[in-house]
Amino acid sequence: MTADAARPDDTAANPADNSGPLAESPFLLACRRRPVPRTPVWFMRQAGRALPEYLRIREGVPMLEACARADMIVEITMQPVRRYGVDAAIFFSDIVVPLKAVGIDLDLKPGVGPVIADPIRDAAGVDALRPLEPGDVPYVTEAVQGLVGELGATPLIGFAGAPFTLASYLIEGGPSKNQERTKAMMYGEPELWDRLMGRLADITIAFLKVQIAAGASAVQVFDSWAGAVAPEDYRASVLPHTSRIFAEIEALGVPRIHFGVGTGELLGLMGEAGADVVGVDWRVPLDEAVRRVEPGKALQGNLDPAVLFAPWETVERRALDVLARGRTAEGHIFNLGHGVLPSTNPDVLARLVDLVHEASSAH
Ligand code: CP3
Repeated sequence: MTADAARPDDTAANPADNSGPLAESPFLLACRRRPVPRTPVWFMRQAGRALPEYLRIREGVPMLEACARADMIVEITMQPVRRYGVDAAIFFSDIVVPLKAVGIDLDLKPGVGPVIADPIRDAAGVDALRPLEPGDVPYVTEAVQGLVGELGATPLIGFAGAPFTLASYLIEGGPSKNQERTKAMMYGEPELWDRLMGRLADITIAFLKVQIAAGASAVQVFDSWAGAVAPEDYRASVLPHTSRIFAEIEALGVPRIHFGVGTGELLGLMGEAGADVVGVDWRVPLDEAVRRVEPGKALQGNLDPAVLFAPWETVERRALDVLARGRTAEGHIFNLGHGVLPSTNPDVLARLVDLVHEASSAH
């Protein structure tokens, strides 16, 4: 694949994918809006409870312990790559791992999600939140280095939570339907809010930099709960912090993906925040997302993960529709519109990867 002469800008910036086994990676090419031999595909939450080999290795090991052991991280990250033949691996961890690493007392409760022992609701709590140092997460560096060696021509996506989603867990103390305490701080104590968001952005930047320094060739920032915020509030209270994250890692030259759930009204702003790729949930068709996101961005998504429970003919028809709409984007990475649901049949995911590859290489 030759580089597009009209866009010499971003090749020069990225030493990571110009040479070596990753030079021809369809995933990295699509992130950079270059021609691809076939549409790349990977799945958010591709590692995890849908896989029997994951359930076996996790037996008796709590989630956060698994995330702190390099050998387990490597094995669990590799499982879906071996089974599905996806075009990218995603580092096995969780968005709360860096918070745990800076001393927040938290747990990942099965079936619930993150639970925080002492929620942050005042200045003392915000000021006690310290920065993340690379030495806080040695197992991340070790696991990324091990994975890059094992993955060869398959790129590794590093990731982190965006400040809004992290703030929401820290303030609410756990998953929240209405985000009332989070929004109360955002609307009512803007200075305290900005201080908290600034500290969380610093932690996210540090966590992404550790992964990129160790060899991750792309990153995804998950702002899963940003969809709770109206566009004007997003612009004023969320975007500046997330923008700083993308700006501070820009010079490292790896593609940056920005994803959230229920973010149809925010897609334009999420692109403006500075990512190279905007992740789209299943609620907005990709051709409509193209109209909402400024030019110069690739899109990722967006098959409804629940479609995988319908008969194969339905899965096939819906997946081909996603591919067709995705062709209207400057670059398209096939994915689900949110994570793989735990009771998904892995054989359906394997078949879906084959379908995406076969149907897209015919063009
Ligand atoms: O394969 C991958 O995508 C990488 C692994 C990954 C996990 N969490 C592993 C995990 C990633 C990218 C995440 C990110 C994450 N964690 C997000 C953003 C993505 C999203 O889904 O919107 C969020 C909001 C979290 C917080 C969180 N952690 C939740 C809501 C849960 C689920 C709780 C449950 O049990 O249903 C977790 C736990 C978690 N993170 C699991 C996995 C595989 C399940 C724990 C287990 O297997 O015991």
